[in-house]
Amino acid sequence: MLLNFETPEIISLTEVDSTNNYIANLVREGKLCKTTIVSADYQHEGRGQRATKWQSSKAQNALFSIYTPWKHLKLEDQFVVSMLVALSIVDTLQRHVTSEVKIKWPNDIYVDSKKIAGILIESDLNGQQVSSSIIGIGLNINQTYFDAAIRATSLKLETGQNHDRAGLIQQITKNLMLRCEQLLDEPDFFNVVKQQYLNKLFGHKQYISVIVKLGNAPLTIKPLDVTRAGLLLAVDASNQLHSFDVKEIEWVI
Ligand code: BTN
Repeated sequence: MLLNFETPEIISLTEVDSTNNYIANLVREGKLCKTTIVSADYQHEGRGQRATKWQSSKAQNALFSIYTPWKHLKLEDQFVVSMLVALSIVDTLQRHVTSEVKIKWPNDIYVDSKKIAGILIESDLNGQQVSSSIIGIGLNINQTYFDAAIRATSLKLETGQNHDRAGLIQQITKNLMLRCEQLLDEPDFFNVVKQQYLNKLFGHKQYISVIVKLGNAPLTIKPLDVTRAGLLLAVDASNQLHSFDVKEIEWVI
């Protein structure tokens, strides 16, 4: 897999609208061409997946985006980036917590059935190639109060201790670079990464409840696999195979 990771420059901000937006502006102005990390203590317009907001207390958590140009990354392979980022966060967090860190498809990070980190990847395309990505990561670290409705946790809630925010950003980035480097000469990189991803997938080969948005009907499914395009493949209670797009299902955890 041909990825382009160099030792990244780190820009640390006190406050910004969104670290993803900050990088997108630099790219638009032609000021960014190599791997760069932007982190912030606070975002007043933090963005989540599917046009949601990412809210985070001031100077408690990790809010950062990694900009990376890619070499020869095909559009059809972009779900690999999502899997690699999720796995790098799992690698990092698992060294600190005893409960199992899981990936809720497609790329939410969960501990004890509660969300601890979210990922928002925004990519630029050049024909059928992904030319660069902005990989936004929000990781709950030292925050201990969360709205009950969002079922979230943090490293502090899981371990009882405060953790070094900058250190964790470095560890996640390092783990991501390591994982990318390991794939450089791997022709079957999709299946290699997919196997590691499935090993960490929340509910893999277990029956779990989801709400299918198309009909709004609750359904019990057993997630089995993911496709190259990132669709979730799962069987229902009568063993019928379904494939889901991210907008089609809502998790009931
Ligand atoms: C999600 O789970 O909905 C994704 C959340 C991603 C949040 C991070 S925080 C840093 C970066 N900047 C943003 O505005 N969003 C991402």
